[in-house]
Amino acid sequence: MYIEIAEKSGFCPGVKRAIALAEEAAEKYGEVCTLGELIHNERAVAELEKKGVRAVQSIEEADGKPLIIRSHGVPRAVGEEARRRVPTVIDATCTFVKKIHKIVAGLPESAKAIVLGDKNHPEVIGIIGSAGCTAYACRDIDEIEKLFADGSIAADGETVLVAQTTFDRSKFLDISRKVGEKYGCVRIYDTVCDATAQRQECARELAKRAALMIVVGGRSSSNTRKLADICGEYCETVFVTSAEELPLQVLKSLRSDSIIGITAGASTPAYTIKEVHDRMNEEITKINNENEEDFASLLEQDQSFNRLYTGKRVKATVVSVSKKEAVVEVGAKQTGYIVREELTNDPNAEVSDIVKPGDVIDAVVVKVDDSVGTAALSKKRVDAQLGLEKLQEVKDSAETIEGTVAQVVKGGVIVIYENTRVFIPASHTGVPRGGKLDDLLKKPVKFKIIEVTNERGGRVVGSIRQANKEVRDAERAKFWESIEVGQKFEGEVRSIESYGVFVDIGPVDGLVHTADLTWNRVGHPKDIVKVGDKISVVVKSFDPEKKRVSLSAKDPNDNPWTKFVSEYQKGDVIKATVVSITEFGAFAQIIPGVDGLIHISQISTERVANIASVLAVGQEVEVKIIEIDEEKNRVSLSIKALMESEASDEEE
Ligand code: F3S
Repeated sequence: MYIEIAEKSGFCPGVKRAIALAEEAAEKYGEVCTLGELIHNERAVAELEKKGVRAVQSIEEADGKPLIIRSHGVPRAVGEEARRRVPTVIDATCTFVKKIHKIVAGLPESAKAIVLGDKNHPEVIGIIGSAGCTAYACRDIDEIEKLFADGSIAADGETVLVAQTTFDRSKFLDISRKVGEKYGCVRIYDTVCDATAQRQECARELAKRAALMIVVGGRSSSNTRKLADICGEYCETVFVTSAEELPLQVLKSLRSDSIIGITAGASTPAYTIKEVHDRMNEEITKINNENEEDFASLLEQDQSFNRLYTGKRVKATVVSVSKKEAVVEVGAKQTGYIVREELTNDPNAEVSDIVKPGDVIDAVVVKVDDSVGTAALSKKRVDAQLGLEKLQEVKDSAETIEGTVAQVVKGGVIVIYENTRVFIPASHTGVPRGGKLDDLLKKPVKFKIIEVTNERGGRVVGSIRQANKEVRDAERAKFWESIEVGQKFEGEVRSIESYGVFVDIGPVDGLVHTADLTWNRVGHPKDIVKVGDKISVVVKSFDPEKKRVSLSAKDPNDNPWTKFVSEYQKGDVIKATVVSITEFGAFAQIIPGVDGLIHISQISTERVANIASVLAVGQEVEVKIIEIDEEKNRVSLSIKALMESEASDEEE
């Protein structure tokens, strides 16, 4: 057995500074008063009193003596009153507490502030009393949700969330993650003091390894009580105010290789910690001397000593499953059980979907109840840690994975992947802005991991959009490798421009120029197609560099020119309709899709100065086919040729 003192324990910088200021002032003024006890430690307060630092409960009680505002701070009105009524006020409010005052004091009256902490703690009272708006003290997420539910806080108003400096950081992170997910309007400030968080972290780390934790501090010190709560989650924990309260008999029941951890609250003087350490050390030396046998190996062999404690990782064999829970065997005297909520994060999954009798699973002990002989375990907490590690690997390898959308939350959806919750922000779901995220519910989706963090109790962010993009990019690359002129596609009209239409042919959009839409004359493409129309197209040309594809919607089987050359020949006299007039002649439609040119010199035997004076659009004319250029798909027509042959007939 050996003793280990948590790296960060005892006085924090804020308390050290307050004590130094008080002692300095007492020396200077002979006697000073503190508004409330300077620190939550009876013995340290008594020591200070001997030095001339007296605790008073009200400003009047100070009786004009220099007054010290302690590190917890006070409501703004109290500070102002003290300055009005006492000539010397020494403000020992901790810098970190002042920072919170500044945040809440700067809020407009219409805003709301949520203070995570104990409403009766002087620090929380000071914060609420310094706010520029209504502020509420809450201990957990349920109390916050109640404020939104009963309308005390509007879901779209300006709201900030801060925490008492000594609030448990992991709880703060968990609550703020939930608040962030549910109420986007809340601005969250992590005001848990680093000294507190570090102390809690060091205590937690030590408690995980220790068989017994001794937490030293004043009974009224909330940060010391929190340390005891944290340690209690991992091992047997004892809260003492001094060495006299140490339960030394407990040491005899510990294994010979046990670690006994010591931690202390922010208001515990170093001499108290030392006394506790020395007393424990004395006792352990005594026990070690008494027990020369190696108890460790004996205890290992004895099943009854497979002690379960909160935080212990175990292999559990599933014995039976019901709708509510799975009963498991953990090789200890207690019967283990895992409720559905501790089996999975998926609210839609049944117990029988997750485990079946005979399965051996990893689980962690959540609570041991020796009075009824049961131990509550959690599978999902172990999975969450393993899941985080796995998802970090997935992120590093940029792999695409698949999971099912389990929940639609504010700002996105939750996908469960191997029992780990992955948040996919709305902008990464691939659902267009304003679209319904509900359509994704219970559907399998492929996604990539874009963020994994251990903060806030583990947070993983995914992106369906990035996975889709990768698929599209691969399809595009394949498309450009295989595209050929003459390749046919069934496409959908995406947009219409004056010069043509863009057609979705899968991985890319191609352009059908107006002239390639149909064999007939076209005014505007919108006269022929509309957005959403399905049309058959063929590739005319493409440029992989510029990512351009030129398409044609003209069906070669309907080519009017083929029809024309099979039915008409040079010298034929036919009827045609004038469709347009230019400076050099008029175009007349012979059949739909084939127009012939009546050159200005072929309109009449007389000289024609103005074509419009002899021909009009829509006019039907009799013409002779005088030339067919099959290569260039051109036809020349003549009215003049008919006039001349008429004249020669008459002459004859
Ligand atoms: Fe200040 Fe942190 Fe101590 S807020 S009083 S340094 S615990």
